[in-house]
Amino acid sequence: MKKLRVALLAGGISSERDVSIKSGDQVYDALDKAKYDVVRFDPATDLGKLVADASRIDMAFIVLHGPYGEDGTVQGLLDLLHIPYQGSGVLGSALAMDKWTSKRLYIEAGLMVPPFEVFERGQAYDLKALAGKPGFPLVVKPRYGGSSIGTSIVQTPKQLPEALDSAFKYGPHVILETYLEGTEITGGVLGNDDLQHLPIVEIIPESSFAFFDYEAKYAEGATREICPARISETLSSRAQSCAAVAHEALCCRGYSRTDMIIRDDNIYVLETNTIPGMTPVSLFPLAAKTSGISFGQLLDRLIELALEDRDG
Ligand SMILES: Nc1ncnc2c1ncn2[C@@H]1O[C@H](COP(=O)(O)OP(=O)(O)O)[C@@H](O)[C@H]1O
Ligand SMILES: [Mg+2]
Repeated sequence: MKKLRVALLAGGISSERDVSIKSGDQVYDALDKAKYDVVRFDPATDLGKLVADASRIDMAFIVLHGPYGEDGTVQGLLDLLHIPYQGSGVLGSALAMDKWTSKRLYIEAGLMVPPFEVFERGQAYDLKALAGKPGFPLVVKPRYGGSSIGTSIVQTPKQLPEALDSAFKYGPHVILETYLEGTEITGGVLGNDDLQHLPIVEIIPESSFAFFDYEAKYAEGATREICPARISETLSSRAQSCAAVAHEALCCRGYSRTDMIIRDDNIYVLETNTIPGMTPVSLFPLAAKTSGISFGQLLDRLIELALEDRDG
């Protein structure tokens, strides 16, 4: 059989470039070369080449995180070039990248989110009011972002200006939400119309980390990931449903991974990742592996779903 010509897109220009290259290397190694002819493209330098080669590409595998990769822009370019790609399209990617719009859609779908406020750069704020809602400690994060970049936990009002400054580096809107101490989990779904619910993963950053920050996410041994999560079956199936509801509320396709916090038996949705980390030790591949899907099989399945969506 003729091999499928796959364009592997990794690198890019977002602050998650390094993570993307690492994931891209792993995906490249794991793609079955007996089935796929893989050519790598780095959107930072190779967009012109991608356009020129479009007619010779059967599908694109996108391993880009953050703006200009996971946010619908690259997806739009691939649509224009008639190149199918794994995961969400323009709409789902853009909605999930926008933490503010996502929250509004989660709420409309009946999901719980931490109490939050949105600030615009330069907006005056009333510390007393903030102490009431969302209340300290607060999480301050950019509206568009990922990998916890620009995100901090603020214990006291005095720490707020610095946290705002670092989040505003990534755009004109910042989200302030109640810091919820609880069990951090993440839930993956896989499929187009029939969603497969993957087992829930529990995330435990080592105690030296204040939260699941950039270093905790990527430094070796900095976080323990336990799959399936050590929670009751009821909570686990509720969390799986929340992940599926979030995926659908944001019009996602193919796969996604929704981050959540369990506190007092309530499940709060934080955000949905449309291109989850893709090293074999990343959370989504770990959840897939726990349900018997190897990393290589996961890549095959994502490619199959991409082609099915194009034909559907
Ligand atoms: N409201 C919250 N309460 C407690 N921890 C939070 C909250 N929001 C974010 N965090 C912590 O910050 C991390 C990153 O936040 P998240 O919303 O998942 O954004 P991203 O992963 O896109 O940077 C989470 O994995 C979690 O550890
Ligand atoms: Mg997250």
